[in-house]
Amino acid sequence: PVLVVDFGAQYAQLIARRVREAQVYSEVVPHTASVAELLERDPLAIVLSGGPSSIYEEGAPQVDPKLFDAGVPVFGICYGFQAMAVALGGTAEHTGTREYGRTELGVTEGGGRLHDDLPGHHPVWMSHGDCVTKAPEGFTVTATSDGAPVAAFEDTTRRFAGVQYHPEVGHSPHGQEVLRRFLHEIAGVKPQWTTSSIVDEQVERIREQIGDGKAICGLSGGVDSAVAAAMVQRAIGDRLTCVFVDHGLLRAGERTQVERDFVAATGVKLVTVDERERFLEALKGVTDPEQKRKIIGREFIRAFEQAARDLQADGDYDFLVQGTLYPDVVESGGGTGAANIKSHHNVGGLPDDLQFKLVEPLRALFKDEVRRVGTELGLPEVIVQRQPFPGPGLGIRIIGEVTGPRLEILRQADAIAREELTSAGLDRTIWQCPVVLLADVRSVGVQGDGRTYGHPIVLRPVSSEDAMTADWTRLPYEVLERISTRITNEVADVNRVVLDVTSKPPGTIEWE
Ligand code: XMP
Repeated sequence: PVLVVDFGAQYAQLIARRVREAQVYSEVVPHTASVAELLERDPLAIVLSGGPSSIYEEGAPQVDPKLFDAGVPVFGICYGFQAMAVALGGTAEHTGTREYGRTELGVTEGGGRLHDDLPGHHPVWMSHGDCVTKAPEGFTVTATSDGAPVAAFEDTTRRFAGVQYHPEVGHSPHGQEVLRRFLHEIAGVKPQWTTSSIVDEQVERIREQIGDGKAICGLSGGVDSAVAAAMVQRAIGDRLTCVFVDHGLLRAGERTQVERDFVAATGVKLVTVDERERFLEALKGVTDPEQKRKIIGREFIRAFEQAARDLQADGDYDFLVQGTLYPDVVESGGGTGAANIKSHHNVGGLPDDLQFKLVEPLRALFKDEVRRVGTELGLPEVIVQRQPFPGPGLGIRIIGEVTGPRLEILRQADAIAREELTSAGLDRTIWQCPVVLLADVRSVGVQGDGRTYGHPIVLRPVSSEDAMTADWTRLPYEVLERISTRITNEVADVNRVVLDVTSKPPGTIEWE
C-alpha cells in the first residue's frame, strides 16, 4: 500500500481517499509507528499528512530521518512537508506570516514534475503558521506563496517531494493532479486499484478464508451489508445464508424492502427473524449512547448465533459476514490509534465471546468505493444508491430511553420526512437525514385550542462525501415547512420540529 502517516487533525483520511482516487491502494497509519514498522508493510510510497502541531513545539511529532534512507518515495503535506524538510536538513521557521484558506500559489520557472504546465498562478488551500524557509540539499523549490517562500519542493532522483498547501481538499483545484503526479510519475506507482481489481482480490481472499465452510450475513437494508453479502455470494455461492434481524429499531417499510429488492437482485437465501422483544428488553432503562451501541451490537450477535443454531441441520455456520467500512474502523478507534469517537455497532460493539469468525470484505473501503463495488457486482441502483442508515437504527435516534411508543413516534416522523424529501427530488442531494426524537425534552405548544406539552423532533440533513466530515444541507424552506407541518399535524405527542445546523466536526452525523 501507500501509507498515509497521520499527524493528527482530520486530513489523513481524506488524503487516503484521494490516493485511492488516483487508483492506488492506501492506508492510514499513526505517526507513532516506527520506521521499521512502516517498512514492514512494504509501502510503495509514504505520504506525511498535515497536523495541528507547530514543528518546533515541545513534543511535536517528528519524522525519523532514517525514513529517507529506505529508498521509499515520500511526499510531505503541510505539517508533514515541514517535518520532512527539517528531517532532511532544511529549515522551517515560525515567521509570523500565517496563511489560512485560499491562497495564490506562484509556480516558479519550470514548475518541476509536480507543477509543470499548471497555470503559473493558481489557488491552493493553505493552513499554516510555520513555513519552510530553506529546502534541504538536493531539492528544487518549484512554488512559492506570500507566506511560504518554499511552498513546494521536489527531488525526483530520490523520489521525494512535498507541498505546503493541502492538495487533498476541493479548494485546491489542481491538488488531485499534483498528488497523482507524485504517485504515478515521481514515485512510479502503477494505478491498479480499480473496482474490478477490488472485487477480484476480495473474492479470492474470502474463498481462502472460508474454505468449504458456511457463512451467514446480517442484512440491515443498507448499502454496506448488501454489498458485503453480494461479494461473499460471488465467492461461495449458496453456502451463504443471509439473516435479516428485525430488531424493532427499523424505519417504516425497511423489512419489506430487504425481503423484496435484495432477494430479487441476488437470489440469495434469506431468513428473517423477529427479535423485537429481545432488543427492547435489553435496552430497557438505558440512556447512555455508548451503552446502547454496545447492547445493540451484542444482541445482534446473539441473534445471529441463534439463527446459526436454527440452521444447524444445514451444516455449521462458522463465519459471520459484516459490512464494516474503513471509516467505521477508524472512528471506533481501531487500526490507527485514533480516538474512539463512537463504537460502531459492528466494530467496538462486538462481544468478547464471539462465536463466529468474522468476514469483513469492505473493511478497507470507503463508502463511494463500496457503491462502485456494488454496481460492479450487479446490484441495482435502489440498493447501491440508498442513503446510509446505521445498524443500531432508531435506537440511537431516540435521545433517552428506547421504548415501543417512542419508536412508533419516531418511525412516523421519519417516514414523513423521507417521503417529503423524496418527492422534492432531494434524495441524491443529501447524504442522509437522520430524524431524531428528543424523548426527554418537552416544550409547550398550542394545537387546536389547547395547550400541548410534547416532544421536539430534530431534522439533521447532511451533505457529505464519506461521512468522515459533513456539512448541514441547506434544504429549501418550502420542503422544511411541509415536513414540519405534516409531522406536527400527523404525529401525536410531537409539537415542535427543529433543524440541526451543525457541520461535522464538531457535531457527528447521528446524535448518539
Ligand atoms: P457519525 O454519527 O459517526 O456517523 O457521524 C457517520 C456515518 O455512520 C453511520 N453510523 C453507523 N453505521 N453502525 C452503522 O452501520 C453504527 O453503529 C453507526 N453509527 C453511525 C451514520 O449514519 C453516518 O452515515
